[in-house]
Amino acid sequence: MRAVKIGVIGLGAISCGSHLPGILGCQDAVLSAVCDIDADVLKRVGDQYQIDDTHRFTDYRQLIASPDVDAIEICTPNDCHFPMAMDAVSAGKPFSLEKPVTLTADQAYQLEQATRASNIKNMVCFSYRFKAATRYLRHLVQTGALGEVFHVNLRYYQSWGMPEADCPLVWRFIKKRTGSGALGDLGSHALDLVRFVTRQEYRSVAAHLGNRVPLRKLEDGSGTGQSDVDDYCDCLAQLDGGASASIQVTRLAYGRVNYQQMEIYGSKASAVYTLDEIPNLDELQICTGQPILSARDFVKADIPSSFQANQTQAFLDILNGCEDGLSATISDGRINQQIMDAVLEAGEKQTWIPLVGNDIQEVCL
Ligand SMILES: NC(=O)c1ccc[n+]([C@@H]2O[C@H](COP(=O)([O-])OP(=O)(O)OC[C@H]3O[C@@H](n4cnc5c(N)ncnc54)[C@H](O)[C@@H]3O)[C@@H](O)[C@H]2O)c1
Repeated sequence: MRAVKIGVIGLGAISCGSHLPGILGCQDAVLSAVCDIDADVLKRVGDQYQIDDTHRFTDYRQLIASPDVDAIEICTPNDCHFPMAMDAVSAGKPFSLEKPVTLTADQAYQLEQATRASNIKNMVCFSYRFKAATRYLRHLVQTGALGEVFHVNLRYYQSWGMPEADCPLVWRFIKKRTGSGALGDLGSHALDLVRFVTRQEYRSVAAHLGNRVPLRKLEDGSGTGQSDVDDYCDCLAQLDGGASASIQVTRLAYGRVNYQQMEIYGSKASAVYTLDEIPNLDELQICTGQPILSARDFVKADIPSSFQANQTQAFLDILNGCEDGLSATISDGRINQQIMDAVLEAGEKQTWIPLVGNDIQEVCL
């Protein structure tokens, strides 16, 4: 099989931490081109990955147009996702797109329609779908091992937004560049994971969002500027299978670098996964037996190795037509964006917002 030539746009944290090493680690892929608007970043990454000057770009359109690029990975700030993915579709090239897919549900819908109309292969990087603990928990729900799901609680906590961390006013704090704050950053994963694991759709949401660190130093050191997005978001949701979900995300959780925990309480058993409490150390615990006896134990489960997965390989499998169907598509991304828009509206209006009739269609959970 010929190696797929991949071009990567945006060479920041997620690119250097996941996408670029991911491509290098896949035998059926080759990193053929890179793009970043920051010339220094472009030089550093281009040198590190030995990309020749003719395949380094500061204009993403040139990367998309390059005959040496078969598929594109889009790893830029959120406001760039829509135009870049639309241009990939126009060029007839498959894309893998970072989350959240767009700034608004309207954009996400347009992108989904265009992608489908041109039959472009695609993936959205809801990375936690590739965790073995996540897939195993989904399997337990799907096989009925937990019984009917009553409650889902998901907490996704980080600490880098705390005042002590003194993070400057980067794009993640500016609404017109990011769409929303902790919601889009962490909540997009969380909202997707609840769908992915329970295979239930959202029917209504209520939410409370807040900003506790409105002033942040400017990146150039010239003073301070206003952060106009949420630092945290607490969301309640009713799912169409009857489950009640509670989702909390924050950038202000002292001591939590990247901590995620999902609890599922079912009629036959309960299960809890904890991801990255210690980096890359994931754990799943299950509680079975008589539920109303006190002090039932949650016992650590051995996760079968068949539940291991790799995000970059999953993209290549989509391109090669041998995917397992568990990766997120642009339709999952669009649904995710619709739910986030509803969460923002619920927070603003302080009321429940229904999602029924929101055109949640043709997505195979
Ligand atoms: N899947 C995950 O778990 C995960 C984790 C972190 C970030 N992300 C997502 O990845 C995306 C990037 O996040 P990050 O943390 O890497 O950000 P970052 O700020 O570290 O890097 C973004 C890079 O994109 C470049 N860039 C900006 N505009 C550009 C343009 N027009 N053309 C080319 N390059 C441009 C910047 O110069 C920078 O190098 C975001 O959408 C974020 O939500 C996903």
